[in-house]
Amino acid sequence: MDRIRITGGNKLHGEIHISGAKNAALPLMIASLLTPGTLTLNNIPRLADVQLLKRILQNHGVDQRTDGKRPGEDIKSGETVHFTAAHITDTTAPYHLVSRMRASFWVLGPVLARCHEARVSLPGGCAIGTRPVDLYLSALKQMGADIEIDQGYVVAKAPGGLKGADIQFPKVSVGATHVALMAATLARGETMIENAAREPEVCDVADCLVKMGAKISGIGTSTLTIEGVEELHGATHEVLADRIETGTYAMAVAMTGGDVLLRGGRADNLETALDILTNAGVKITASDEGIRVARNGNGLQPVHVETQPYPGFPTDLQAQFMALMTRAGGTSVIRETIFENRFMHVQELARLGANITLDGDTATVHGVNELHGAEVMATDLRASVSLVIAGLAASGESTLHRVYHLDRGFETLEEKLSACGADISRISD
Ligand code: EPZ
Repeated sequence: MDRIRITGGNKLHGEIHISGAKNAALPLMIASLLTPGTLTLNNIPRLADVQLLKRILQNHGVDQRTDGKRPGEDIKSGETVHFTAAHITDTTAPYHLVSRMRASFWVLGPVLARCHEARVSLPGGCAIGTRPVDLYLSALKQMGADIEIDQGYVVAKAPGGLKGADIQFPKVSVGATHVALMAATLARGETMIENAAREPEVCDVADCLVKMGAKISGIGTSTLTIEGVEELHGATHEVLADRIETGTYAMAVAMTGGDVLLRGGRADNLETALDILTNAGVKITASDEGIRVARNGNGLQPVHVETQPYPGFPTDLQAQFMALMTRAGGTSVIRETIFENRFMHVQELARLGANITLDGDTATVHGVNELHGAEVMATDLRASVSLVIAGLAASGESTLHRVYHLDRGFETLEEKLSACGADISRISD
């Protein structure tokens, strides 16, 4: 199994190209199931999750053609892939594929909308109950679907097709919004989704659906109105820049010091996090090229943070920010309000010398003068990159195990960081 070795202490200088957003690319690829036409997606990041979703779509009968390298292109930058679901040949998404990635459950919406039936394995983690898929199922039921749980599968049927409904989500869910939105594009009549997620990735999917012929208003607000159409058609769309990757590298530069241009990063999608970094003493300059992040000499100020749905501080940056605050000159308080157990990085950060106490949904981080290298283990995608950030500032050598978590969501991370002066490399046995 691969490991990542980091020798900390180097400042970062230079430029990092921001990839396409994983959390937009996945639902955009799933949207290809809605049309017999070809959906061409540019700037798809080369990630393990994308590869897995390609297999899941293949199983439904989606043809996929990837463009080769064009003049002037770097083979490592995002891919252009043409997805064609001329016929959905299988309406089942099997356990062995869906259990490995939660977002693959989202095929339920488009397959049901287009084929009037779908059988999708429940995603990993705890099964049906108050969570994790109750919001998806209640939305589809309101749209007329008959839903049963059979041997770990959601079996959904809507013989006459889905119909428009007024859906009021009791809590904000990115995935449930994606699914209800996609399903509503082909439903009969009007659907209103209230308390919809407003994450930029949801807007990116909605923009793409409009290009495919969907009638959607309210994009970017918490109320989406969709007038169903008979059929969607093919389109071409570019996956938006990854705001979580952008925020992650911003925190890496804040941690080590230095000066880096995050090329293609969009400040308008990351305002709360960038404000918080500014309050911590980091210099942020947004331009048409991207975001420049610099910290030279000055120490980090402690800042209190609470995760919230967009436009609040993203839960997907909580672990990285915690790593940063381990070196702040004082005590910061970080509250996680989206996921109740997203603190698995705390014990690993402690191996590097961090001083963090946990109480329920709140972590209190007492800044320390020095982190020191150690062997640490990645526990999930964002937790693993928080350990990389800490390792970049720790004295001596750190080794990160279970790197496959990182490969799910960060394209060529070691190469991007080492090009800016970090001493980081992958060891493959
Ligand atoms: C998306 O997950 C992202 N995944 C997550 O990114 C991200 O952390 C999360 O949104 C929150 O921003 C992708 O986009 C692929 P939710 P999702 O439904 O849609 C509860 C990463 O690291 N809930 O918005 O699964 C749920 O338990 C990842 O890239 C229900 O109670 O998250 C949570 O507390 C991980 N019932 C809250 O809603 C439901 O039916 C928000 O989750 C559905 C969700």
